[in-house]
Amino acid sequence: MTKTSFSWPILCLGGVLLTCTALADECAIAIDGTDNMRFSTDEIVVDRACGEIELTFHHTGDLPVEAMGHNWVVSTAEDARPVADDGARAGLENQHIRPGDDRVIAHTEVIGGGESTTITFSVEGLYPAQEYGFFCTVPGHFTMMRGTFRLD
Ligand code: CO
Repeated sequence: MTKTSFSWPILCLGGVLLTCTALADECAIAIDGTDNMRFSTDEIVVDRACGEIELTFHHTGDLPVEAMGHNWVVSTAEDARPVADDGARAGLENQHIRPGDDRVIAHTEVIGGGESTTITFSVEGLYPAQEYGFFCTVPGHFTMMRGTFRLD
């Protein structure tokens, strides 16, 4: 499991260094996907106080999107498999997300090797007591590419 820190100099101005670092860690997340159909972490924990999370998803591989595309999707843990099943059927033209699927809390586009994408999403409506999951909805990837997402 790896965790990448982002510097956030504007937010940190005038702040206490330790507080500043912790906040930056929790509100900006970086995760990688690989040609071996893996995410770089199996658990993401965010601070609900962040309000908005900035997530950067990078595909470290070489394979094109048609062969080994990945997305990053989050839903409740209960919804994860049905969201992934419906997403797999939805096609690459829909970023492997069923159009209008309101079980999806956030998702990136599908990217190929060497590409990156960044999204921001709100966690204000999420709950620490609820179990969430993140996963890839490209057909056949769900079993290999999933993890736990929770609030702290
Ligand atoms: Co994938």
